[in-house]
Amino acid sequence: MAATGTSHANANDINEQSAPVETPSGCHAETVTEVEHYTDRLFRFRITRPASFRFRSGEFVMIGLPDARQVFRAYSIASPSWDDTLEFYSIKVPGGPLTEFLQRVQPGDTIWMRSKSTGTLVLDALLPGRRLWMFGTGTGIAPFASVARDPESYEKFDSLVIAHGCRLVAELAYGQHLVAATLADPLVGELAANRLHLIDATTREPYDRTGRLTMLLENGTLEAMAGGALDPATDRVMICGSMAVLVDLRDALESRGFTEGSNARPGTFVIEKAFVD
Ligand code: A2P
Repeated sequence: MAATGTSHANANDINEQSAPVETPSGCHAETVTEVEHYTDRLFRFRITRPASFRFRSGEFVMIGLPDARQVFRAYSIASPSWDDTLEFYSIKVPGGPLTEFLQRVQPGDTIWMRSKSTGTLVLDALLPGRRLWMFGTGTGIAPFASVARDPESYEKFDSLVIAHGCRLVAELAYGQHLVAATLADPLVGELAANRLHLIDATTREPYDRTGRLTMLLENGTLEAMAGGALDPATDRVMICGSMAVLVDLRDALESRGFTEGSNARPGTFVIEKAFVD
């Protein structure tokens, strides 16, 4: 008969439950400062930033939790490199090895963060250009929340366009708040005024625009709203979403003459998977 394990806890069980969990090597133990839930699938949280932690806007880092033991997942940093706290935007996966725990964090809780950040959705991986497009689906908007709040983006580009595609209207809130907060920000608000644009769309609920970003690109809606055709001579593009989104948007861009870039070899577009699924 299987043991239920509830009535006869022995000394080892008690020790295991009460012993503080040691921070793994190469990790910072940081404190949650803010949590906001948007829907039953989406939430954002902020943590303290280690004084020694440096990153480039658009990069990702590995996140874990004492509760989830050694499970770490890649998370795009959604705050800019100048910010003194770090923001993350996450999906909640029922039964997910990390997000099942992460979705319950409260201010004051501890989050583990590995000390090295990396990624290709960075200005350095793009050749100089005039207009920067950021295509994100779902939580794939997260790295662009960092890039759009970085003054360097406005030094390098005349205008920034975020194209955000989600299933439902409520899932667009993060992008809408991001743009409103950026425009109201004392540091970047003036730089972003009339230069940061959001084009958002849903696929499973009526909204001002409906349809996948691929379809809205193909039928000219995005270009018309952004005020001009996508041109590899002057436009630069970042893409973040599911694998299917990356493949389809990459095909669409390559057929228009764009070439993929990397940190080692900058190009006219860059891609990264929205990791947590
Ligand atoms: P759809 O509702 O038609 O699947 P998810 O929440 O699953 O990550 O999806 C986020 C958004 O990305 C949804 O609007 C979804 O549309 C859309 N999407 C899914 N696959 C693709 C694709 N291959 N190209 C463009 N958009 C896609």
